Formats: sequence, structure tokens, C-alpha cells
Amino acid sequence: MAHFPSSFLDEVLSRTDIVELIAHHVQLKKSGNNFMGLCPFHHEKSPSFSVSADKQLFYCFGCGKGGGAFQFLMDHDGYSFPEVVEYLAEKAGLTVPQSAAPDADEQAKRKRALDLLDRVTEAFAKVLVAEEGLAGRDYFHRRKLPDDLIRKYRLGFAPPGYGFLARSMGRDERVLAQLEAVGLLFKGERGYADRFRGRVIFPIRDRRGQVVGFGGRILDQGEPKYLNSPETPFFHKSDLLYGFSEHRDEIRKRKLLLVVEGYMDVLALAAHDLPVGLAPLGTAIGERQVREILRLNDAPVFCFDGDRAGKQASWRALERMLPVLDAEHGPRFLYLPEGEDPDSLLQREGGAAFIQRIENEAKPVLKTWIDGLLNLAGRGPEGRARMAKKADAMLATMKDDYLRQAWRLEAENVTKLHLKDAVKPRKATPRRGIGGIAPDAKLREDFVAALVQNPARVQALPAGAEQFFLDDDGLNQLYTRVLHISADDKHPIQTLINAFPEDERIPRWATQAETTDDEFCGLLLAIEQENIKRRLRQGDLSTEEITRLKRREIEINRQRRG
Ligand code: CTP
Ligand code: MN
Repeated sequence: MAHFPSSFLDEVLSRTDIVELIAHHVQLKKSGNNFMGLCPFHHEKSPSFSVSADKQLFYCFGCGKGGGAFQFLMDHDGYSFPEVVEYLAEKAGLTVPQSAAPDADEQAKRKRALDLLDRVTEAFAKVLVAEEGLAGRDYFHRRKLPDDLIRKYRLGFAPPGYGFLARSMGRDERVLAQLEAVGLLFKGERGYADRFRGRVIFPIRDRRGQVVGFGGRILDQGEPKYLNSPETPFFHKSDLLYGFSEHRDEIRKRKLLLVVEGYMDVLALAAHDLPVGLAPLGTAIGERQVREILRLNDAPVFCFDGDRAGKQASWRALERMLPVLDAEHGPRFLYLPEGEDPDSLLQREGGAAFIQRIENEAKPVLKTWIDGLLNLAGRGPEGRARMAKKADAMLATMKDDYLRQAWRLEAENVTKLHLKDAVKPRKATPRRGIGGIAPDAKLREDFVAALVQNPARVQALPAGAEQFFLDDDGLNQLYTRVLHISADDKHPIQTLINAFPEDERIPRWATQAETTDDEFCGLLLAIEQENIKRRLRQGDLSTEEITRLKRREIEINRQRRG
């Protein structure tokens, strides 16, 4: 992990306006001191996503996501922390300092590779429109893809035979080695050989729109029909969805997301004014992809072929979905007539009919599940028992307690059997304080929130304050960090968020109504009192210490009354 000096992070943030940054993705309206909009991280009809220009923070009152500019880009676009810093630094005209060098090598290598992939994309696209690319052009035209779409998706052509990449990228040994590293060349008997030959090319982009790999389809007959780039450090098939960066905004805008099986389906949808398709890269859809899909849309439609393979694929997708699904999401499953895929149907019926088909035929996920179980289990009492067993196993993987109960009832209705109470162990209840008295969680949170809102208050804490919350793992780390914020830290909240990027309490506290100084004094006394009680119960104290604590307790009681 790169270690950026905090002064540099400060500099980057001070030159970044979070409102402007977020406004690229979310329509924001001024409201009091803040800006409000529809949260990009969950689905909502009325805005609960707030951005504070003063504090340079965002926070969603609906889903609890929040943070600063770094966090926004990490969550929204999937950047890693060093990538965010680098990206915003570049935008602000700053150079990343040398001291962050441990990773600089890695980063530079990655950047070189991505640049190269971009140039290769360009080269494939250029041949497609040249004489050498006639066969590829014909192919796309036969499949009814218009030229503007071919350009937009940067489709290309890899000519038949060997040597195209060496010819177009130069024969520099280092470049060839790089092309090998990204899977575009392999070493054959007579030197480097092109992986993609005689295929139309589908560049695959990551969430930021950078080309990270390719799919290539054979022109007519031949095996394999589709060939993909091999896995590399930045091309993980199970993390990517074809169409994601191109369609993300449109999917949000239209509140429509269609998951399909192939590249051509995604493109055919786009050609029929439905730029809302996403497809996995020839692999079964995985949990991370499902998570991404559900984050983008609350009712995605999964389209599958109507044949046996399609049924199996849909069942796998459903299984992957259970650990992610909650009651806010209503995915649907559409089975197409045998022998059809979205592409072929669109060519035959057009976009409007396809949408109509979804309206008429797409099945809710619960019905898909029940039908699938019925299918799997067969008839008779044994079938019902098998079905109950399978249902139990699947319910156990569901994360949403209430949804699981609802689904269980449905499965019991169909099997006429009692299912096990497949309730997952509840989250551990907060640990009771030492001495058996549960600490007042709200009081503690309010106190730390007041400090987070104004870390200068740390100066007002009495001696021994570092002992507060020793019994509270969840709070202690954060609290300790707050105590150590330097007095001249210009962005204390950002410092905390950087230290605890996962902790959603910090942005919430920072954006909620400010605690007044009076309130803070009251909270402090209450916390001090709680702490004294805890220490007195511990019983390993000297007589002087006990006397001191008791005296302080009396004093506090007087102050709290007065
Ligand atoms: N696929 C693959 N390798 C294969 C066959 C298919 O990776 N040998 C992947 C590709 O991503 C393809 C998807 O699976 O887009 C769907 O495959 P299939 O249904 O066979 O192809 P179609 O998308 O219908 O392709 P086409 O219409 O071009 O025949
Ligand atoms: Mn097809």
C-alpha cells in the first residue's frame, strides 16, 4: 500500500470540490447548507443523499453510506485508495510525491499496460474500417450493428494470420513482452504469435471505462466461437460485466437493467435503443457481479435462454443471489422461447416487443425459486421432502432475516412440510460492560460524535480520559484515534475517514446536527461517571485511587444536578 504523506492528502482534498465531483454522477439540489440528491448507492424515490460543501462530505440518510471525496470515488467507481489519490491529484495538477514510491513502480506498470491496451483497441478498431477489415465490417453489418455503435463500443477486428500486433505496435522487444503479459501475444515456435486472429473484437472495459481485455468472435464457423483475454492482474472475468461503464448512467436514468448472456445481446439491446444491458464474460454469473447488479438497480431482469442450459444458468444465478438479496430488491427472471436469445428476438420483434415480453412474462425471483424447486424435486412425498431439504439449504444462505421468513412460508405452502427454522445466528449482541452492566451505547456514541464533530474538544477532556471505552472494542479504536488527532490537522474528519474507511459512523456523525458545547459538557460528565463506576467495580485499585475516584464522582453528581 502506498503511503501518502498526510500533507499531500490534505493538498489533494483542498483542491478538490466534492460537490462538483459528485454532481457529475448525481443530480444535486441546494437545500439549506447542503446539497441533496438521489443516493447512487441504494434505490430511493425521494432524496436522502446529502453533500456538504463546508465539510466536504457526503452522507446518505437512507443507506448510511458516507465519507469524503476519496471514499466517494472508491465506492462509486471502484477505485482503490492509491488510485483515487492519484486520479484526484492529477486532476488538481499535483504530482504524487516520491515518498509514496513503494507502489509507484506497480502503478506505473499498470498505467503502461492500460495505455498499451488502449492503443491495441485503437489498432483493432482502425483495421475494422480499413481494407483489411472488410470481413469484420461485413460481419457486424450482417448482425445489424450500426456504425456509430461500432465506434461507441470501440469494436474492432483482428485480421487472420500472425504478426498483426507486432506490425501495428512496433517490434520493440519490451512492447512485445508487455503484449505477452496482457495476454495478447503468446510465444510460439517461431517467436511471438497473436492470440486473436480472424475474429471480430469486443473490448472489455472496467468500471472506469478503461479497456482491460478483449473478447473475440470467430467470423463464421470454428472453435472456439468466442475467445477472451486470459486472466491478468487487472482482468478478472468474475469481477467484470460487459457494458458496465457504457451503461451505468443510462441504467440509473431509465431504472432498467437487463442481464443477458452474451456480448452480442448487450449490443443488440443498445442498437434497439436499450443501452441497459450487462453480460458476464462467458462465465456463470458470480456473487460479486450480482452485488454490482443489485447496487445499480432494484429490479434487474435476468434474461435466459428457455432451454435446459438456460434453466441451469438461471438457477446458478439465483443461488449466487441469495446471500445478497434483501426485501428492497425484486429481481425478475425471463425465459426466452427455445432457440432464441435477446439478440435474435430483437432482430425479429424489435425493442418494444422485447420490453412488452418482460412485462408479460418475467417472473419474480421468489416464483422462479419455487418453480425451480418443484422442477428439481420431482413428484410424490419423496419429491416434497427433497424439495424441503433443498429449500432449507438455500434459505440458510439468505442474508435478510425477514425475506427468509417470507420465502420459508412459501416453500412450506408448496411442500406442505415444516422447514427447519433456518434462521442464521443473529449478530452478537453488544458485549456487556465489564462488571455486568451494559454500557449505554447511545450515550457513548453521542459523546464520540461530539468529539468527531469538533476534535478541538479533546483539549477539554480530563486526565484519565484515555481510559474511557476500554471495554468497548467497537468504539475504543476510533476514540483513541480521535484523541491523537493533531491540533493543526486541517481536515480532522477526513483523517478519521482515511483511518477507518469502513466505519460508516464517522460521516454520519460529521453531518448530523452539531452537538452544542453545553450538550458536550453534559455528555462528558455522564461518560466520566460511567467510567468511574466501571473502574470502581474492577477492584484492583489502590486506596488512594479509590478515594480520588469517589471524590470525583461526588463532584460530578453535584455538577450534573446543578
Ligand atoms: N462464450 C464464450 N466462449 C464460447 C461460447 C460463448 O466465452 N465458446 C460466451 C461469450 O461471452 C458469449 C456468451 O458466452 O457472448 C454467449 O454465448 P452464446 O450464446 O453461444 O453466443 P451468442 O452470444 O448467442 O453469440 P452469437 O449470437 O454471436 O452466436
Ligand atoms: Mn446469439
